[in-house]
Amino acid sequence: MKKIIFILIFAVSGFQFFTTEQVGAPDLPQQISLASYSVSNGDLVLVNRDIALQGEPDHLATIPYDIAKNVVVNSEYFLEEQAISPLKQLFDAAADDGIEHFIINSAYRSGKLQEQLYEQYGADYSLPPGYSEHQTGLSIDIGSTVGKMENVEEGKWMEEHAAEFGYILRYPKDKVDITGIEYEPWHFRYIGLPHSVLMKQHDFVFEEYIAYLKEKQFYKMKLNDTTYFVHYTGNKRSVNTLESKNIMVSGDNVGGYIITSILEEI
Ligand code: DAL
Ligand code: ZN
Repeated sequence: MKKIIFILIFAVSGFQFFTTEQVGAPDLPQQISLASYSVSNGDLVLVNRDIALQGEPDHLATIPYDIAKNVVVNSEYFLEEQAISPLKQLFDAAADDGIEHFIINSAYRSGKLQEQLYEQYGADYSLPPGYSEHQTGLSIDIGSTVGKMENVEEGKWMEEHAAEFGYILRYPKDKVDITGIEYEPWHFRYIGLPHSVLMKQHDFVFEEYIAYLKEKQFYKMKLNDTTYFVHYTGNKRSVNTLESKNIMVSGDNVGGYIITSILEEI
């Protein structure tokens, strides 16, 4: 019986296996300088109706036309380059599950294009130029070639699995009061691991996740074979954190930094 329960849990959680650990105030022996980072840059910048984008994307790259079999890319679309390989992994994993009829409808947008769309679609489904996360190069609109995302397997699969690849469903149905945007089953935002997985686990939207990080300051997560340490800190010139050779820093665009380290072991 125990074995069956274990298999069931494993089947439900797919290939991802994670454990999250809250940590109090750990020893933080490694000092890093934040002076070379901007609070308005990185994978975790929060942009919404009230929080404007500052600056431009760092390294836009073209989404390959042949990113995956049966995924339609019929125009030149750009994303920040670190978001492209996880996107390919995501489409490949979906195809392995028999879900493959996707179409990319939008990715990076200039302020000018955002202005046109805002005039066309209005405030419920779009944001004024300067306030759209499409302008960060970290958001993508993914549709299905067989129906509306809310009705087809492609939409269900993405809602369930995108987080395993660092992407989040940015505007869920039940969080309109927080995001200020109607349900958009097509709009996904890259924020990277392990952040997307923790958000999915806690059913957080991005605004809630940033508030959670500010409150908790630290957490550890073991995801498959990788142990991450996530550390939130205010706007400081330097900060002490856990020792790691693999440290990524992102601003949150609201006065803080998120340090994501990969640890040797938990
Ligand atoms: N459709 C999303 C909200 C945007 O315009 O950025
Ligand atoms: Zn979008």
